[in-house]
Amino acid sequence: MKNEKNEWKWKTIIEPFKIKMVEPLGFTTREEREKVIEQAYYNMFNIKAEKVLIDFLTDSGTGAMSATQWAGIMMGDESYAGARSFFNFETTVKDITGFDEVIPTHQGRASEKILFTALECKGKYVIANSHFDTTRANVEATGAIAMDFPIKEASQFEKQHPFKGNADVEKMEKFIKEKGEKNIVMCVMTVTNNSWGGQPVSMQNLKDVYEMCSKYKIPVFIDAARFAENAYFIKLREKGYDKTPVKEIAQEMFEYADGAMMSAKKDAIVNIGGFLAMNDKKLSAKCRQYLILTEGFSTYGGLAGRDLEAMAIGLREVLDEKYLHYRIRSAEYLGEGLKRHKIPILNPTGGHGVYVDAKKFLPHIKPQNFPAQALCCELYIVGGIRTVEVGTLMFGKRDAKGNFLPAPMELVRLAMPRRVYTQSHIDYIIEVFGEIAKKKDKIKGLEVVEMSDMLSHFTAKLKIKG
Ligand code: F0G
Repeated sequence: MKNEKNEWKWKTIIEPFKIKMVEPLGFTTREEREKVIEQAYYNMFNIKAEKVLIDFLTDSGTGAMSATQWAGIMMGDESYAGARSFFNFETTVKDITGFDEVIPTHQGRASEKILFTALECKGKYVIANSHFDTTRANVEATGAIAMDFPIKEASQFEKQHPFKGNADVEKMEKFIKEKGEKNIVMCVMTVTNNSWGGQPVSMQNLKDVYEMCSKYKIPVFIDAARFAENAYFIKLREKGYDKTPVKEIAQEMFEYADGAMMSAKKDAIVNIGGFLAMNDKKLSAKCRQYLILTEGFSTYGGLAGRDLEAMAIGLREVLDEKYLHYRIRSAEYLGEGLKRHKIPILNPTGGHGVYVDAKKFLPHIKPQNFPAQALCCELYIVGGIRTVEVGTLMFGKRDAKGNFLPAPMELVRLAMPRRVYTQSHIDYIIEVFGEIAKKKDKIKGLEVVEMSDMLSHFTAKLKIKG
């Protein structure tokens, strides 16, 4: 097969690494898995990892570090203050983001907690293309209200659109005018947009949002968990960027923001870590005070020196375009395979994985019987594959009688850990879906046995609907 430039385009995804250290996969029998899932009350979070063959529960903190990162771990400077590893980390973050004030944290939600506490946003609004759940929870824990403004195409799963992660700038501006700019503390741009399929945000949209918010003096922060994947999508899909190195694209993305928060567990390819970065000296001083209160001194955050070293290296490695090609192409390849079995997915496939539309795939299961969770269970029983539900179990609200009100979507997220699995693992997943598709009408819905009020999907106990 040749591409438009008449260059040879290989069909095989060549993982741009060779494997030096291996971990065994958790092989089990179907009989065993049926018992495991029943004992886990049909909740993916209750399954022991050793009983999982392919773990696509999350791409967060599950990546494989490189030999260079492991070498960095050994070189980590564990001094309490002023460690060399901090300065390596700070230099890297400054180079990519252009922000002067760099504050390490132990993970994304620690950055969120510190930032929104420092902003004092009680009674006010934070606007976003879409808040991730923990971002929303941290905004709301301060007494503020989190408002999402995705474009309408975000929820049209079949429709192709290059930048479904974009914010609806007009709607955002209308909201600012309605509530008054003094009542909007911040605008968050999540790249890529995790809640709606790992879809990218275009450079133009970042620019438009920044220009609009600047008019009202509303600071814009980028939730940069998957900034490199977003930058690569811009290279592939946005006019004028096809020859620009991904690193330069990333640097330009941060030009359209006043600061950034990051869960480094994603695109810094580390198992733990995060940061806040900004230019505002007053705000950063306040953030550092909260950092010292809850995380640790300002040159280590909640981390060890070795973690800072690994993060600095990971942030540079993630911008390797061969790696990003393998990453984005793997998600696309999985999507193509699922489509061959007529599995309805969210189009186009995202940066960190594929989202299956369970509402469409299992129309015989009502939302209150959790079709997406039922599909997660089936994937585990048939193939030992662990995924996560993004639907009524995660987002469903309950009425006064305790009945479930359906969520707007019933999705199964297949999130790919970075540099962990190969094309043959993906082929296996496609094969399992093929088997499931043949008997999909036999899949049964679920009922709640026990459930908490907050972040209930992590602990809910379920059973098969009788
Ligand atoms: N922002 C985004 C966009 C995220 O996807 C996450 C985490 C966070 C912030 C919070 O970061 O976990 O380091 O505290 N997402 C994970 C997931 C949990 O599975 O999508 P954290």
